[in-house]
Amino acid sequence: MLEKIIALIKEISAFSVNNSEELELFRLKYLSKKGLISELFEDFKNVPVSDKKEIGQNLNLLKQNALEKYNILKSNLSNSEETDSGFDFTRPSHLYSLGTRHPISIVRNELIDIFTRIGFVVSEGPEIEDDDHVFTKLNFAPEHPARDMQDTFYISRLSTEDSSPEDILLRTHTSSVQVRVMQGQKPPIRTISPGRVFRNEAISARAHCIFHQVEGLYIDENVSFADLRQTLLFFAREMFGKDTEIRLRPSYFPFTEPSAEMDVSCKICGGKGCNVCKHTGWLEILGCGMVHPNVLEACNIDSKKYTGFAFGMGIERAAMLKYGVNDLRLYFENDIRFLDQFKTTL
Ligand code: PHE
Repeated sequence: MLEKIIALIKEISAFSVNNSEELELFRLKYLSKKGLISELFEDFKNVPVSDKKEIGQNLNLLKQNALEKYNILKSNLSNSEETDSGFDFTRPSHLYSLGTRHPISIVRNELIDIFTRIGFVVSEGPEIEDDDHVFTKLNFAPEHPARDMQDTFYISRLSTEDSSPEDILLRTHTSSVQVRVMQGQKPPIRTISPGRVFRNEAISARAHCIFHQVEGLYIDENVSFADLRQTLLFFAREMFGKDTEIRLRPSYFPFTEPSAEMDVSCKICGGKGCNVCKHTGWLEILGCGMVHPNVLEACNIDSKKYTGFAFGMGIERAAMLKYGVNDLRLYFENDIRFLDQFKTTL
């Protein structure tokens, strides 16, 4: 019997199980009421008294080993069942990719930031507009050729020959928002209107049928061209750097008189001349001028008492100059490789 007990102790210590069914078989074989160990305890009754001490000790040891083994096998099994859930908790995780703001939004926010610092407030208006707000109130005569300057997408048109103030169209500039502000507020008015505009132009590296503008308007008593120039110089230096110079060239817009186009010194070559500025040292950035008295009167503002200046620029163009991007279409293609390069807090 002693040999049998020692053989079982060895057998039990070498025992291993792969699943709970095998563990149950272990329990049945050794530890159940009809198991081998109970059987040995039965037989123990017949052991001669002289052997009882030695055999009894070994038998107890066997039972204790079997119980311990059972508990160890059971806890190993439940641990390994946990990790068999299909997850490897030690693997490094995927990097969480945070998106970036679109360069047009970055530059728009920057423009808003610059102008709100000097007292301008942001105003917005509808993208689908009527002719009255986009053209007529801005001093475009019905048959004025200037309407052709901005190839318009019409939604509904009363006549195919002539324009009418009731025609519905996609706004070609956000000056329409400023008309709405002038109609609804009394001077002093200091506002900028960022937004999307639409023109029926062939898509190329320099033009798109949808683009974004920020236009500005300041109306008060005694507003002069010098105020316009100083405001724009402040903007140019905040946007493109402290050494930036500006120059104003005479131009024409129906809604401003006098009108000008503004250039900024090319920051790529520092004004010496390069491919980007076509060797002129200057880059065209915006249109501006003193608000035409006809516009003020059309919006019920007394043009004898008040004067004002206005300016407008394309955000795509400003962003191209700021970032040295040479193809405007990149802003619309949503190529992650392009967009990922613009990281900012604005
Ligand atoms: N509205 C003009 C445009 O879209 C820009 C502009 C605004 C020019 C205000 C002068 C004054 O081209």
